Order: sequence, then structure tokens, then C-alpha cells
Amino acid sequence: MDKFVIKGGKKLSGTVSISGAKNSTLPILAGAILSGDNVLIRNIPDLKDVRTMMDVLRSLGLRLTEDFDSRELHIKPSEKLNIEAPYELIKQMRASFFVLGPLLARMGKARVALPGGCAIGTRPVDIHLKGLEQLGAKIILGHGYVEASATKLVGNNVYLDFPSVGATENIMMAATLAEGTTLIENAAKEPEIDDLAIFLNTLGAKIKGAGTDIIEITGVKSLKGGTHSIIPDRIEAGTFMVAAAMTGGRVKIENVRLDHLEAVIAKLQDAGVSFFKSGTTIEVVAPERLKPVNIKSFPYPGFPTDMQPQFMAAMTLAKGTSCIQETIFENRFMHVAELKRMGANLQIKDRSVILEGVKHLSGAPVMASDLRAGAALVLAALSATGTSEILRVYHIDRGYESFEKKLIGLGAEISREKYNALF
Ligand code: UD1
Repeated sequence: MDKFVIKGGKKLSGTVSISGAKNSTLPILAGAILSGDNVLIRNIPDLKDVRTMMDVLRSLGLRLTEDFDSRELHIKPSEKLNIEAPYELIKQMRASFFVLGPLLARMGKARVALPGGCAIGTRPVDIHLKGLEQLGAKIILGHGYVEASATKLVGNNVYLDFPSVGATENIMMAATLAEGTTLIENAAKEPEIDDLAIFLNTLGAKIKGAGTDIIEITGVKSLKGGTHSIIPDRIEAGTFMVAAAMTGGRVKIENVRLDHLEAVIAKLQDAGVSFFKSGTTIEVVAPERLKPVNIKSFPYPGFPTDMQPQFMAAMTLAKGTSCIQETIFENRFMHVAELKRMGANLQIKDRSVILEGVKHLSGAPVMASDLRAGAALVLAALSATGTSEILRVYHIDRGYESFEKKLIGLGAEISREKYNALF
């Protein structure tokens, strides 16, 4: 396995460019199943999760040709698709479950392994399945698989009990080829949903209202081919903002959609960070010392749960007390114990963490438990005194393209090394 060895204490400076959004790319690749023609995806990030989704599509019979140097992925359709997405692939990444809606809509039948839980919570798929049933699908659960079938899908009003990102995407994709009109109410409003809708509309879908809480989809008979460019990754951009803020740095971040980061920027401003915006570039300037700020994760446009661990890392160094509440996932505090090992002063109370900022974190060996927790530990290590080792870097590779290379470009002392894991 790989680990990061980080010598902390360097103020980050320079320019970094943001890659395409992981959470747009994954549903968009699943959406390509709906098309009967060639699809070209641009600005595709080279990530472990993206490669897993590519494997899923290949296992279904689509033909993919990637060129990560030019950030392009060509997808060629297949008349007849394999309707089963096996556990071997689904277990690697929950987002593989996104193929259920498109496969069902295109083939009238799909058999997809249930994704199961993960380190940050149980993450059920009940909202996905209820929505597909409301479009007329027959769902059978058994032997760890979901079997969905429908002679035809028919548009309906689908109210989501919670604005689940994945369920909104799965139902939206299925409704694209349904007969009649579907209204998804209490839909998730994340920018990645809007990006998926723009992609599907480019292929001839009729989707209105993506990015609001009511999405209207008028079904069409088939989708043609087309080209789409993925939006920049707002969580990667937010992570670099926190990296600059925590290391006392000054960093220019390029290729950013600032309108997707309003909650994160507002909270960092409250913490004393200065921002200078110019088009799609933003310069981040750290204060002498961060001020304590309370945050509560919420569905978009609220503060993203995917930035909660990184923001918590920042608050470990703030001058005073802060409180971080997690409302999206029930178990997204795995990084707390690791931050403690680096000298942070923080306590979990129910679904909140109370932090008393310390002047310095101290380098230590720590373990990444999931993608964003791993990123938070890297940020903590960059600002700590002494050397840290971050184990289980594979979590970080799922969602950050060339993370250590980009950090080295900003002056960080970080290297990737091999180690023998005993368990
Ligand atoms: C997506 C993002 C993930 C982000 C999350 C919340 C992708 C690939 N991943 O994940 O990075 O952290 O949104 O912003 O886009 N839930 C149910 N039943 C369901 C579906 C969800 O109870 O059928 C619950 C989940 O357990 C969780 C909450 O709803 O507690 C949010 O989940 P959801 O919005 O669906 O997140 P994902 O789409 O899995």
C-alpha cells in the first residue's frame, strides 16, 4: 500500500489548477448508458473512482477509449447491453449503483448489486428504489442484488423523503426515457445534478429545473450522441482553500466555479481568510491565525458534508472554541480520533464536534478512513510541526487527482512511499 510522508510547516504558495468534478463524472458516465450513439466527455479527471466506473461500463458492454493527457473519454454504445452490474465492481464504489436507473430505462431490466454500507454510514438506497417503483419498475431484492424490471417506465410525480443526490440522479436518468412527464420534488440541488442534466439535454433529453428542488423531465424515445465538458471539482477547490488557510499560505486556485463554493468561501471568510476573485481564478490569503467558526453540514447550497472533515482540520488551529455539526451522514467523524493523535483538542458530542483550537498540531502517523477524512489529515499534516505519515492513501486517490504533485507544486514537502500493511 501507499502512504504519504509529510514534513509540515511549509507555507503554501503558488498556483494550482482544479480538475473535473468526480461527483459529476460518475453519474455522467452512468448516463452515457442511455445514449444510442457516440459520446465524448471532456475535462475528465484521472481518479480511481472514475476508472472503477469505466470498468463498470465496460462490463456492461460499452466501448471506452480514454486519453487522460488530453482529459477525454470516448464512449461507444452497444446495441445489446449486459444487464448485470456485479458485486465485485459495486463493492469498490457506491456510485456504481447509478447504473441502475439508466440500465432499466434502456434495457427494461437491470440486476445491480446492493452497495452496502461504508465507513461514513449505512447509506441505504431506499429513496432510489421507491422513486424507480413510482415510474413503474418492479423491484425485487434478493441475494444482495436489486432486480428491476419494467415493460415500460411511465412518468410520475416523485417526492423524495430526503434530497438524496444519488437518488435524484438515478431517477432523473430513468425518467429521461420514460413515457410522459416526471416531476421530482424535494430534489437535491447540487451543481453536479445540473451538470448531469446539461449532459443529458445535450443528448436530446428534456429536463428542466435541475439545480432547483423541482425537476421536470419529459420522456423521449431515445438519446443521440454528443460532447460534454465536466464542471470543475468544487470539493477539490475547497480543499486547496483550506490548505492555504491552514498553512499561513497564499495560493491562486485556477479553474474554479466560485458560484459553487459560496458556503465554503463565506465560512472561511468568517475564519479570517481573504479572497481575491478574478473570473475563474481565486487567490486565497491566510490570516495570522484562524478565527473559530461554527458550521453545520447541509444539502446544497448549504455547507457540504464533503468539506466537513477539512474544515474541522482547520478549526483545530483556530484561536478559540468552534462547533461542527454533521447532519447528512451519521458516522462521519472518523477523522476526530486521528486529529487527536496530532494534538488537536476536540470532543464528539452526538452529531457535533466541539473544538478548542491549539497553536500547533504535531506530526504523527495517522490513518485515512475515507476520502475526505484522508484529505483532512493531509491538511493537518501540512500545517503540523515535524513529520507525519498518512496511511491508506488509496482512499485519497479515489477523489483527488495528482494530490501530492499539486501540493508539491505549492511548495509542500510530501512524498508517496510504499509500506507493508499488516491488516
Ligand atoms: C453524494 C456524493 C457524496 C456526498 C453526498 C452528500 C457522489 C458520487 N457522491 O453521495 O460525495 O457526500 O452526495 O452530499 O455524488 N440516503 C438514504 N436513502 C437513500 C439515499 C440516501 O437514507 O436511498 C441517505 C444517506 O444514507 C445519507 C444521506 O441520505 O445519510 C445523503 O445521501 P446522498 O445524498 O444520497 O449521497 P450520495 O448520493 O450517496
